[in-house]
Amino acid sequence: MNNRLLAMVGSVMVVCLTVSASGQTAEGKKDGGAASPAGPSIKDAYKGIFLIGAAGDLPGGYSAEELDLVRQNFNVVTPENCMKPGPVHPSENTWRFERPDALVKWCADNQIAVHGHTLVWHAQTNNWFFRDGDKDVVTRRLKDHIGTLVGRYKGKIRGWDVVNEAINDGGNAETAKTENLRKSPWMRALGPEYIALAFRFAHEADPDAKLYYNDYNIEVGPKHESSMVLLRRLVKDGVPIHGVGIQGHWSTARVPYEAIDRAIGDYASLGLKVSITELDVTIRGTSGGQLGGGRPRGEVTPPSEQDLKAQADAYGRLFAIFLKHKDQIERVTFWGLSDRRSWRRGQHPLIFDASNHRKPAYAAIVEAIYHPKPEPAAPR
Ligand code: XIL
Repeated sequence: MNNRLLAMVGSVMVVCLTVSASGQTAEGKKDGGAASPAGPSIKDAYKGIFLIGAAGDLPGGYSAEELDLVRQNFNVVTPENCMKPGPVHPSENTWRFERPDALVKWCADNQIAVHGHTLVWHAQTNNWFFRDGDKDVVTRRLKDHIGTLVGRYKGKIRGWDVVNEAINDGGNAETAKTENLRKSPWMRALGPEYIALAFRFAHEADPDAKLYYNDYNIEVGPKHESSMVLLRRLVKDGVPIHGVGIQGHWSTARVPYEAIDRAIGDYASLGLKVSITELDVTIRGTSGGQLGGGRPRGEVTPPSEQDLKAQADAYGRLFAIFLKHKDQIERVTFWGLSDRRSWRRGQHPLIFDASNHRKPAYAAIVEAIYHPKPEPAAPR
């Protein structure tokens, strides 16, 4: 039995011994039933390997049981919406810091790290940034936005998704040789330089923060090639970029395992760290990071046992790949907390069900540490 397995068995025994007949734990906390541990928590199982996160605009609007679930299972939180440009900086002279401040405080009080999301994006960004402004004016607005937000949480937020989703969807053999940047309002106002500027402004505001480029489907096909062209340029130009976020919105029907395996290696070869930043594996329906189309209307079909097994297998295989690259991977964050707290609600994508119970995927992820079965990447 290796040390890690011994530690796991030990922690299960401690949990068994410290829960009394009244359902109270030794620390005096109420054993929340649904949230009660039936084995090592995912964050403990992966301790010293990589951080395990969840997204949410905590703590407002979350039940005590949900907050317990976060405390017990995750050691890093990404704000799902409240730090995006639209919500936090709706007009030039208006900032809404109430929710971001509350999130940062709650996480600090509970020894949970925060990863900031996101400074520059084409979505959830109000038009005032671009209105009646020449290049200089828009650059100043970008700098003020980043400087104020990153500066406010300097030393309290460990890293930021600086630029989100700058690369076009799809692509072909021709675009694969280029950065294929999205014609976003930032691109129209400032050209491709907006990306390097954003990283430089963020670095100035907090030189210790880990700065990420974040995107979906960048592990596959021409979009992956374009991401390599872009990142190679940023690294070559000495832009302060630390890592790449592969969002990880996948579906049980098709997870691109081999592409993921290879992409992590490709990014590492540029000297960059990798995080899986928005992981969810839907049981049916939409995958990918595109906005919209996720929420079902009317009744939600519950997942069958077979669905849950297929999802558990997918998560197990994914984590085996992440473990293979553990020296490159800093963090794996789920996009939401439970199947009720998910932007893809109705497609049962997460590791806790709508009643906060562990799904088969949870055990498969912990199991991946002890019996990893990484699928080797096929040669190019
Ligand atoms: C989503 C949130 O989960 C939703 O609540 C919101 O309505 C739209 O944005 N890629 C990202 C995230 O980088 O910010 C998106 O989050 C999901 C796709």
